[in-house]
Amino acid sequence: MKLLLTNIKELLQVRDNPSEVLRGKDMSQLPSIKNAWLYIKNGAIVDYGSMEHKPTYEGFKNIDCTGRVVLPSWCDSHTHLVYAGNREQEFVDRIKGLSYQEIAAKGGGILNSAKKLQETSENELYLQSEKRLKEVMKLGTGAIEIKSGYGLTTEAELKMLRVAKKLKEHYPIAIKTTFLGAHAIPNEFKNHKKGYLDLICKEMLPKVAKEQLAEYIDIFCEEGYFSVEDTNRLLSEAANYNLIPKIHVNQFNAIGGVSAGVQHNALSVDHLEVVTKEDITALKGSNTIPVALPSCSYFLSIPYTPGRELIDAGLPLALATDYNPGSTPSGNMNFVVATACIKMKLTPEEAINAATINGAYAMGLSKTHGSITKGKQANVIITKKIPSYSYLPYAFGSNLIYKVIINGKEIR
Ligand code: NIG
Ligand code: FE
Repeated sequence: MKLLLTNIKELLQVRDNPSEVLRGKDMSQLPSIKNAWLYIKNGAIVDYGSMEHKPTYEGFKNIDCTGRVVLPSWCDSHTHLVYAGNREQEFVDRIKGLSYQEIAAKGGGILNSAKKLQETSENELYLQSEKRLKEVMKLGTGAIEIKSGYGLTTEAELKMLRVAKKLKEHYPIAIKTTFLGAHAIPNEFKNHKKGYLDLICKEMLPKVAKEQLAEYIDIFCEEGYFSVEDTNRLLSEAANYNLIPKIHVNQFNAIGGVSAGVQHNALSVDHLEVVTKEDITALKGSNTIPVALPSCSYFLSIPYTPGRELIDAGLPLALATDYNPGSTPSGNMNFVVATACIKMKLTPEEAINAATINGAYAMGLSKTHGSITKGKQANVIITKKIPSYSYLPYAFGSNLIYKVIINGKEIR
């Protein structure tokens, strides 16, 4: 399958270097070619250039992109896309005044989703999750990370990860999986958290590793969930199975999870609605990327990650959806990019970088995703006719996608 995109108004995120993460001021640069062409063959980006030097390929399908912007598809490095049912009732309860924490304390929240998931068959879970995956692909996501964490028993955690693995086998989108058994403390272990951590370390981890169901390890390091000590224990155990940390930290309280993550060479530390000076110091000079999840802040009405501050401190930043039934029932990366501009004061260039090349880094896909680079996977978004790329976050409520191409094929 050969595709030639011609007359592209502006081709964004064109980079010769296949793997890089952008930090600080570098995030304001979004290299592009105006009036461009892009050639795709067998699912890969072969070449690109200016229409002034027309390509001479043959036997391709042509897509005329007059008036359209073309950019790499979104890289969503943090989701909980595999889940069962919904939590609309909690949404209504919050409108009426209960807090996210109060709902969790009443047995709602993550435990509510875990109960639903445990009662759902693997096949039904697959069907529900597949629907969401198809939806986000149409919204321009071309690579995605999916976590477990709504199982909370060995059987249900494995079920979640098997569903994610099956999605990976059936869809062209790149999927990375993360084991998040330490997402909440199940009721049976309410007064015996150590017992649950023992179960994760002694039973779940070996099984996840044996079936090769995950590449990353995650933990919800937060007051009322798992402590820094728990985090240190789990990440040390997981290292024995070569699982790399990508962890939930500082959503409500800064308890030291960021520096713990950095010490364990975490690939990413995610959420960070609360950030301290110590956290910034810990991240400087490390290879750990902070990941902001602005749709979660929007939905829960909690502070936004101080993304501006992190970038101004010279750090890299990635943006992701956090798609999940409790705190972010949306997998729309366009909304994330817009919200990062509107609420976190990122420029369109910074937000697009954070949602493409830096998102790819945050899930270990820098070599193949996140930029228009020769040899990378042919994953692109072709926009509707728009005045410029800043129009994408500006017109935040509009679907401005004309076509999505993943692995060289048009998504329908
Ligand atoms: O990333 N904060 C922890 N976990 C999820 C939400 C969990 C839920 O409410 O179901 C998150 O926001
Ligand atoms: Fe999350």
